[in-house]
Amino acid sequence: MSPICNARVLFKEFPGSDYPVVDQHLAYDDSQTVDPVTDPLDGGFLVKVLYLSVDPYLRRRMTPGGAPEESIQPFAINEPLVNYGVGVVLRSEHAKIKAGSHLVGFLPFQEYVILPNDDGITLLDSKPDGISWSAYIGVLGMPGLTAYSGWNEFSRAKPGETVFVTAASGAVGAVVVQLAKLSGCKVIASAGSEDKVEYARTIGADVAFNWKKDNTREILKREGPINICWDNVGGESLEAALDAAASHARFIICGSASNYNTGTPYNVKNLQLLIWKEIHFYGFLYLSLQPKHGPAFLRDMPRHVAAGEVKFKEHLTRGLARAGDALLDVLRGGNFGKSVIVVAEE
Ligand SMILES: NC(=O)c1ccc[n+]([C@@H]2O[C@H](COP(=O)([O-])OP(=O)(O)OC[C@H]3O[C@@H](n4cnc5c(N)ncnc54)[C@H](OP(=O)(O)O)[C@@H]3O)[C@@H](O)[C@H]2O)c1
Repeated sequence: MSPICNARVLFKEFPGSDYPVVDQHLAYDDSQTVDPVTDPLDGGFLVKVLYLSVDPYLRRRMTPGGAPEESIQPFAINEPLVNYGVGVVLRSEHAKIKAGSHLVGFLPFQEYVILPNDDGITLLDSKPDGISWSAYIGVLGMPGLTAYSGWNEFSRAKPGETVFVTAASGAVGAVVVQLAKLSGCKVIASAGSEDKVEYARTIGADVAFNWKKDNTREILKREGPINICWDNVGGESLEAALDAAASHARFIICGSASNYNTGTPYNVKNLQLLIWKEIHFYGFLYLSLQPKHGPAFLRDMPRHVAAGEVKFKEHLTRGLARAGDALLDVLRGGNFGKSVIVVAEE
């Protein structure tokens, strides 16, 4: 076989405190080639990348000096972006990795990659019937684990309690909505478009509203008080949720999507309510909860998905050339479901 194009998406420049610009801060590059048959493996294995995950935190890797948490290092200039992905092994000289195996792990944004070892790679033995391997970067992967581990660790949910979930149609939020329903709770869901609101209802939300059109405070006042808040966005809706919180409410602070592209984060002004209402605030990173909750997640979530008890929706972007647009969609709320780049069909 003669060499074929091995396209990549390179990180070019730090975007400052605004949204990244495609072709300036990240750029599609098709200057490299790979020969899948003859390129030397040197004891490693050749992976054809099938799916790459687009997550809001990628924006936080575009900050010079990095984020406060050690696990989030800045991308290297002129190197491919890196994130969770699913691939299939084409050739292998590695004792544990066989050609034809599917795997999930951190993969570069490029079509083919030779990995020298299996660090950070998980082999996928099987998948639930009728479900794409891409689920392993969504509901069966990091976002699903985030929802599952955060919910089981912190919610202390009791049937009949009221839960408020923001970005409720997204990769994490949609799983939380369904776990809250499985726990017997009433769910109030917010999302940023009519389609997303409708979807939140179809996966079980009792009350769903469009935060861009409806008044979050009024809805929470009418439908609350809130016993559990799962917050993916921060900012004004978090402030409104604190005002609508019940005594002893649990706030699970998962993300702050409304702040990722702004130079000056929104300052929540009513934190004193943590004292008066004896609210518990839990910020967490899924990696810290993985050792405790990962094994049960791997056992339970495929079963829930196969049984249709946890549904999921993917927002597919076809081709690496559109990776920058996919990232912008996630940062602006243009994604409807888990954002996945389909790099190649099998
Ligand atoms: N703590 C952890 O370990 C961990 C792990 C994974 C993810 N997270 C966080 O969890 C959150 C959800 O992640 P995801 O992967 O499921 O993403 P997602 O919900 O699929 O996509 C992000 C969503 O955030 C909402 N959003 C964007 N800008 C916003 C703004 N200015 N105000 C309000 N909402 C805005 C949009 O939804 P609407 O259109 O519905 O507003 C957008 O679709 C993110 O904050 C992410 O960083 C944390």
